[in-house]
Amino acid sequence: MTRHDVTLIPGDGIGPEITEQALKVLEATGIGFNWDHQVAGMASVESAGTPMPEATLESIRKNRLGLKGPLTTPVGDGFRSVNVALRKEFELYANLRPARTIMPGGRFSGVDLVIVRENVEGLYCGVEHFVPVAGDPRAVAESMAIVTRAGCDRIIRFAFEYAVARGRKKVTVVHKANILKMVGGLFLEVGRDVARDYEGRVEWNDLIVDNTAMQMVIRPEQFDVVVTTNMFGDILSDLASGLIGGLGLAPGGNIGTGAAIFEAVHGSAPDIAGQGIANPSALILASAMMLDYLGEIPAADRIRTAVEDTIVTDGIRTRDLGGIATTAEFGSAVAARVG
Ligand code: NAI
Ligand code: MG
Repeated sequence: MTRHDVTLIPGDGIGPEITEQALKVLEATGIGFNWDHQVAGMASVESAGTPMPEATLESIRKNRLGLKGPLTTPVGDGFRSVNVALRKEFELYANLRPARTIMPGGRFSGVDLVIVRENVEGLYCGVEHFVPVAGDPRAVAESMAIVTRAGCDRIIRFAFEYAVARGRKKVTVVHKANILKMVGGLFLEVGRDVARDYEGRVEWNDLIVDNTAMQMVIRPEQFDVVVTTNMFGDILSDLASGLIGGLGLAPGGNIGTGAAIFEAVHGSAPDIAGQGIANPSALILASAMMLDYLGEIPAADRIRTAVEDTIVTDGIRTRDLGGIATTAEFGSAVAARVG
């Protein structure tokens, strides 16, 4: 059986606690992994003087695959954002964020959507400056949204390919082409072109972003795969994780030409770090996404089912979901259901 080489970054705060549970669950699938343990974030500022050591980058370059706990962003100048550094280095152009109802009795049942966010272009490309006026050096701030036809094409095609691979029915192209005639217009234009290649296989529609936000709150079950530009995807994906019960259940994947890195959407939760009460579900579900990416889909589905059954059928829940289970108890319960 093939073993998979994966760079493992436990991360800061609750990172090591939840990573331990994700490993427990992954090992229970019986799939073989070679874990290459590396550091980043505050953990490596302390040991190596930088939040992103060259050895960690080198390991991801070699394995082209990473599983990462949350990293505390060091405050202060001189440290570039680790997440931005990783996106740039490995051209992680697709941010994949599924949102699916797990907890019963919540605000919504039947939410099962995936947001595909363009991760390197648009308004977040970081091209901005101040324009001095009449002696005020910060009188006007200007920011550029850079959108390329090639960038639109690869992210929209990614969304349609994802829909085909996962048996999803519909792709919604979300934009603001009515106001942003060029940067929004180009995204929609490419959306129409790409959709034509999938005619008869995947349905599609387009929706303006503000209407999307409203529709997602009122009738989220109408969405299946949503593809959109960087900033809209950032905002809508947080909205979507709110619909399904919060950060403890929201996984994410960053997929690119050079590598793929899977992680929880939440941060290092310093307020509860070291107490053994964090919910490891998001990172466990991110591990399942990593297995999807590796083509180990039956094992990925077993993990998703195990998380759901542990929470819903067994009623084993961490404190954020109203339960009393510790991080380790929850992880062991999921692993037992997987194994
Ligand atoms: P956070 O997501 O760490 O915490 C927000 C709230 O949610 C806290 O009350 C926390 O206790 C709770 N929470 C988060 N994950 C949880 C879990 N698994 N189980 C139970 N409760 C959970 O966001 P915050 O406090 O804004 O950021 C803390 C640090 O994390 C910062 O340094 C930030 O830069 C970093 N961060 C890193 C990310 C990454 O590496 N991908 C993503 C987001 C934030
Ligand atoms: Mg965000």
